[in-house]
Amino acid sequence: MKYEFSNMAPAERYRLLVNTVTPRPIAWVVSRNEDGLLNCAPYSFFNVLGSDPPLCVLGIGQRAEGDPKDTARNILATGEYTINLVKSADARAMVDSGVDAPRDVSELDVLGIETKPADHVSVPLIASAPVSLECRLWKAIDTGGNFHIMLGEIVAIHIDDEFLSGPPERPRIDGAALDLIGRSHGSANFLRGTDLFEEPRVTWPLPDRTLKKD
Ligand SMILES: Cc1cc2nc3c(=O)[nH]c(=O)nc-3n(C[C@H](O)[C@H](O)[C@H](O)COP(=O)(O)O)c2cc1C
Repeated sequence: MKYEFSNMAPAERYRLLVNTVTPRPIAWVVSRNEDGLLNCAPYSFFNVLGSDPPLCVLGIGQRAEGDPKDTARNILATGEYTINLVKSADARAMVDSGVDAPRDVSELDVLGIETKPADHVSVPLIASAPVSLECRLWKAIDTGGNFHIMLGEIVAIHIDDEFLSGPPERPRIDGAALDLIGRSHGSANFLRGTDLFEEPRVTWPLPDRTLKKD
């Protein structure tokens, strides 16, 4: 079956995309409004895009009533946010923080999510996150309908020492021990990175086993 997006409602396109383009990493985003109120919410339209400049992307939709989400408002207002990666033990709190809370309520406060200060931005990090990114808005793209693509410059990454070994200038990162989760198909499915298999990279000339036989 082929689906032509031009004939489809946005919600139907969304359903096909989020159930197929998986797994997606999850950004647990902390931002603050102009009055200083902190906000926290998960976003799985998320990835990193490069290292020079080191950019990350968030795709932020609109609330059910058509207003921008708090995260989008806050990033546009202050230009600062942190992205915290989610370990499996934080899955429940991360999902809970995605509740459509009133604008004057901080999900961090009501859920008791602990934070610690960042170094470069005025928005804190989530204390339990094994990895956190300090971000400054690099470019916001308004794609219409209160949907925003936020390109952020990552000014610093925090990685818990317990996952690092070797020389600090070129550390080994125990990626498996981070126990990060991703979003999968369905509205409530997540996965851990434990079902790993290896496929070593190849160099040119291609090894004999890869060549097409007549
Ligand atoms: C795992 C997960 C991933 C989500 N990813 C996105 C996303 O990529 N884009 C989006 O607009 N909303 C996403 N949401 C929904 C928002 O988190 C939700 O609308 C939240 O209330 C927004 O909060 P805010 O208004 O405080 O920013 C996701 C929710 C969950 C639980």
